[in-house]
Amino acid sequence: MTQDLKNRIGIFDEISADIGRTKSFTRPSSLICSSKISDEDWRHLQNSANLYMNKCLPNNSFITDENELLETFAQNKDSIKNITPNGLIVPKRHTVLEYNLLVNAVARIINSAGIGDWITSWHIPLNLRIKHNEINEENMKRHHPTEHIHSDSWAGESADSVTVMIPIFGDTDHNRVTYYDPPDNFEDSWLGPLPSYADGAEIASRYEKLDFVPKKQHLILADFSTLHASHRDAGAGHRVSIDTTFVPVRKYKGGDGETIHPWRENERATHKVLSSLGETHLFHFPDSVDQQVDSQGGFKHPTNLVVKELE
Ligand SMILES: [Fe+2]
Repeated sequence: MTQDLKNRIGIFDEISADIGRTKSFTRPSSLICSSKISDEDWRHLQNSANLYMNKCLPNNSFITDENELLETFAQNKDSIKNITPNGLIVPKRHTVLEYNLLVNAVARIINSAGIGDWITSWHIPLNLRIKHNEINEENMKRHHPTEHIHSDSWAGESADSVTVMIPIFGDTDHNRVTYYDPPDNFEDSWLGPLPSYADGAEIASRYEKLDFVPKKQHLILADFSTLHASHRDAGAGHRVSIDTTFVPVRKYKGGDGETIHPWRENERATHKVLSSLGETHLFHFPDSVDQQVDSQGGFKHPTNLVVKELE
């Protein structure tokens, strides 16, 4: 096994051990950890995701039933302007309050898992994504459709990162993310930026698909040396989930250090900021729903975020 892979597994062993001090967890592979979220943290997350999604509906309705909410989203998907072809529900100025609540709920889950100190920086803003039951064929022609097997580093994120995924609503058993484990000869050099996810197909062919279905009310962490893809079984329903990434503290020597695509340098925040939204900081999105952001071929997050200091 390469030293690059040993280093990454070493960090996952330590992060899992820290989670294990307060929570149960499973390791679907040596580079993935899945841990159950407490009922109280889960209610915070579901309710804030619900409020945020309702705020995006044309008449700001208040639908509490998750199936009705997803169905209403599907029916209105052409009129909800802040959804990207990849299903990202993009925060805009009319959703500032609800979006900050949602981030608070995620930070709370990380704090309960006891891994806040592991986080050098978060990629912001984190994503709430809706994946409808049918593939958006237009999206498959773009540079970075999440249906292709990929590492987020191929879209310019730091190769040192960890992917965070939380399935929240809908048919998450059949409309989900599938994960792939690297071979023993994995090298960090495989994780550089690529013009499109399709350009990584040769690297992806070296990987092994894992028999792992991410579950609701679970926090799933996956090292960037794993690959993943959006997947729908035949007849699957809609799904909503959180996805984001952080760069963990590197306790070992060597390696190339954190490399971030230049367009992504502004998309970072500390865990302290994330944990203090509404108290010391606020994520502000100055764009109205009619202002579209050029995501520069998928290398930039499709929103404009200003981190406001409140004091
Ligand atoms: Fe991804």
